[in-house]
Amino acid sequence: MASKLCPMLFRTAARSAARRAPRPQIRTFTAATARRSDSLMVHRDTPENNADIPFKFNAQNEKLIAEILKRYPPQYKKAAVMPILDLGQRQHGFTSISVMNEVARLLEMPPMRVYEVASFYTMYNRTPVGKFHVQACTTTPCQLGGCGSDVIVKTIKEELGIKQGETTKDGLFTFIEVECLGACVNAPMVQINDDYYEDLTPETTRQLITALRDSANATGSTGAAAKKVPAPGPLSGRQSCEHSGGQTNLTGEPWGTETTRSDL
Ligand code: FES
Repeated sequence: MASKLCPMLFRTAARSAARRAPRPQIRTFTAATARRSDSLMVHRDTPENNADIPFKFNAQNEKLIAEILKRYPPQYKKAAVMPILDLGQRQHGFTSISVMNEVARLLEMPPMRVYEVASFYTMYNRTPVGKFHVQACTTTPCQLGGCGSDVIVKTIKEELGIKQGETTKDGLFTFIEVECLGACVNAPMVQINDDYYEDLTPETTRQLITALRDSANATGSTGAAAKKVPAPGPLSGRQSCEHSGGQTNLTGEPWGTETTRSDL
């Protein structure tokens, strides 16, 4: 029995000694790359984004906010957080900490609840973006459809001279890759600000970027320049998502009832 107890006693004594020994307060080294996605979750004060920068909704947006709030019972007005954050982003250019704080004040919510919403949904840009926010869908249907999103992403990077997540030096374009935008049937596609451009090829992508750049650089003649920017939608000539080879069924006259019902 004693011989069986001895190892156990030794182990217990060794564990107690280890518990008492001071442990160095250092973190182990890691060779993992920095988590870039932290930018979505973490706020760091910058000269253009800190809580000391005042933000107020303009008169036009105040009217819109009053309209939006009418949709909800007064005790549930925090349900309006998403559309009002969107208004703030449109007015300010991005969803800054000041925009979020103002929305929290208006809706009488703890600011943290607003930060949670703004950092969860990727449509809220937590850092400034260019005049044209180019979001290329790289989910599977867009990777496989048409020439494939890999080709479109490569074209955009070459044309703009920037990588994913960067903004051009002139402040005109920001480029990011995104997940499915719900227009898979017209793949590959990009969203630029509020518009979808679909059925893209490298050529139409280049033409689109050039037209947007020209329209932004045109001074005093925005109307004439804007005409050159293609209308949103498929850039292949399709109206919507109809078969690109033309109609292949239901091409004849519908059968009359006499054909299908011999008793009539
Ligand atoms: S996969 Fe690109 S829009 Fe759906």
